[in-house]
Amino acid sequence: MEGARLQVMRALAGLCGVVAVFAGGCANEQEKKGHELYAHYCSHCHGESGRQNEGFNWSSMPDPKPKDLSNKSEMGTFKDQDIFNTVSRVMLDTSEEGGDEIGDDDFAVPTMPTFKYTLSEDEIWAIVGYVRTLHGMKLEFKVEERKAQLAEGLNAAQAKFEQAKQAYEAAEKKASEEAEKKSEALKKDVEVDESSYAGEQAAMAQAKKELDAAQVALNNFSMRPGKGVSIPRPDLTVAPAKSAAPLVELGKRLYENKYGCNGCHSINGEGGKVGPALDRAGFRLNGTWIYRWVKNPQAMNYETRMPALGLSDADAKAVTMYLGTLRAPKAEPPPTDKPAS
Ligand code: HEC
Ligand code: HEC
Repeated sequence: MEGARLQVMRALAGLCGVVAVFAGGCANEQEKKGHELYAHYCSHCHGESGRQNEGFNWSSMPDPKPKDLSNKSEMGTFKDQDIFNTVSRVMLDTSEEGGDEIGDDDFAVPTMPTFKYTLSEDEIWAIVGYVRTLHGMKLEFKVEERKAQLAEGLNAAQAKFEQAKQAYEAAEKKASEEAEKKSEALKKDVEVDESSYAGEQAAMAQAKKELDAAQVALNNFSMRPGKGVSIPRPDLTVAPAKSAAPLVELGKRLYENKYGCNGCHSINGEGGKVGPALDRAGFRLNGTWIYRWVKNPQAMNYETRMPALGLSDADAKAVTMYLGTLRAPKAEPPPTDKPAS
């Protein structure tokens, strides 16, 4: 009896999204997925039930410590979208051209990692739904509507692009017809005046950009952003006239103040313990490997708890250079003659 019921439940769960009638079953499926993802990506810092000092990493983290997610009076002040935005922050462009400073992030706690570059939007909503249950609330955000919006956005961008393309083609045709007429009249070759349709060309390029962005947004709703992305071999050399020191210094600041790597890794005994200590990274790990790993850890180990943190190429290079300088001697065996204190 019990077994058959379970099978029916599973079958219904498998139909999630296709058969809206079983919406109740789908909600359970989302909640289960959210729970699993939370356990894998969040519980080491926030604890299985969201309480302080419950996760194994909580006490070794630098301040501020991970927030108590079971505290309804505080968590209740956040909207679903606020929680989503925290978990899925966009990393600022702190390069010279980007214009943002390291530490400008509104959230300003780098040791709370962003999962924007690791998980699909759908997965992050499932996690937000689970976080809600930790303080006795329910997700109210309409996730399916959001997906429908993204699909509509793609359709609109597609239509806009088609229009821009037609306008460009018409303008180009007109310009070449004019050139042809002139050339017949003058009895010699006349070049097409490309500047006459430069505006249409620029508008088409812009529409194409928007179309690509709409496509990525829809893809990222149900697919992990790093999927299928391969990281080309980096150039880790420093121009001979330049010193590596400023790059190493930048890497250290990025490590702590932008990406919060120290929330999960320790150096000299300081920092989290979700990942291995990095004191000897410069001896143990090859630069190209480190670069590829920090850019897209999931491509190298799909199940790793280390998120892809959205490092730009330049940031990944600086962080790699910094890790290359970490060359602590092998740990001494603990002293045996230490007097009791
Ligand atoms: C490396 C440890 C770490 C991991 C992993 C981590 N967090 Fe956090 N989290 C933090 C820290 C630190 C804070 C900041 C506390 C503060 O603002 O005082 C925080 C804050 C938060 C907040 C409060 C946001 C606010 O606006 O105050 C939420 C919600 C949250 N985390 C959810 C999550 C979820 C969900 C996951 C997993 C997908 C996760 N965290 C993974 C360390 C972590
Ligand atoms: C949420 C925790 C977390 C954060 C944040 C994090 N890491 Fe990791 N990292 C890990 C875990 C866990 C591993 C272990 C590898 C695995 O899962 O296979 C790891 C592995 C590594 C390794 C390989 C270490 C070895 O000895 O094999 C390097 C290098 C590394 N991380 C660098 C970084 C850098 C640089 C940052 C910041 C840009 C960072 N990590 C942020 C969790 C984290």
